[in-house]
Amino acid sequence: TLGITVLAALLACASSCGVPSFPPSLSAHVVGGETAQPHSWPWQVSLCGAGTNNRIYRVALGKHNLEVEDEEGSLFVGVDTIYVHENWNYDLAVNDIALIKLAEHVELSDTIQVACLPEKDSLLPNDYPCYVTGWGRLWTNGPIADELQQGLQRVVDHATCSRIDWWGFMVTEIMVCAGGDGIISACSGDSGGPLNCQLENGSWEVFGIVSFGSSLGCNTRKKPVVYTRVSAYIDWINEVEILVECFQ
Ligand SMILES: *[C@@H]1O[C@H](CO)[C@@H](O)[C@H](O)[C@H]1NC(C)=O
Repeated sequence: TLGITVLAALLACASSCGVPSFPPSLSAHVVGGETAQPHSWPWQVSLCGAGTNNRIYRVALGKHNLEVEDEEGSLFVGVDTIYVHENWNYDLAVNDIALIKLAEHVELSDTIQVACLPEKDSLLPNDYPCYVTGWGRLWTNGPIADELQQGLQRVVDHATCSRIDWWGFMVTEIMVCAGGDGIISACSGDSGGPLNCQLENGSWEVFGIVSFGSSLGCNTRKKPVVYTRVSAYIDWINEVEILVECFQ
């Protein structure tokens, strides 16, 4: 893996956010993950790594099917700088967040859009329905996805997730848990992907970033996926953004 969790979503720097041109299909009754409506999570990006330490060398935007090289509405952009959180601790999975500055300006389109950032320090209630998206396995023995997958993940509040038979001291307040119903879960390959939560006004925000899960399996009960809670990093993101030019 890349080691650190990079926020694999396009964020900020735009006046409107979180409203896809092609709305996602949200069938709450589907058990397990499902293939997403093409381009319904247009802030989802794919990081292409290569070389000995798997450095990120380009970012794919506007993708649905990773096997189709020249998909309409997609493009590949180089990386200018990667900002890893200065207090990132790999062993404790603390401050597991990084930002990428793209090498070029990207024109937003129907297939490439930005998500909203959550309000600073905001929390979501227990059971709040969010969706994890990614090209990794969404459930144990699920397919290795070519097409973007989505899975319903309900937020597990801190009081529950930090219970001793859940994650105990492994989870702190700067993380957020979601899933853990034993059915759907983010899985290997989803690391860095967004936990997308819809606000009351209909816009989607990236509330979490897939950080770690249980070594017992991708969808172990009482072991929800642990996400970096983006709302705990708004000041950090804004600080980094001062270094990063916004073109809009
Ligand atoms: C919904 O609210 C969020 C956060 O306040 C804001 O960023 C977004 O632009 C709003 N969306 C609409 C469609 O008004």
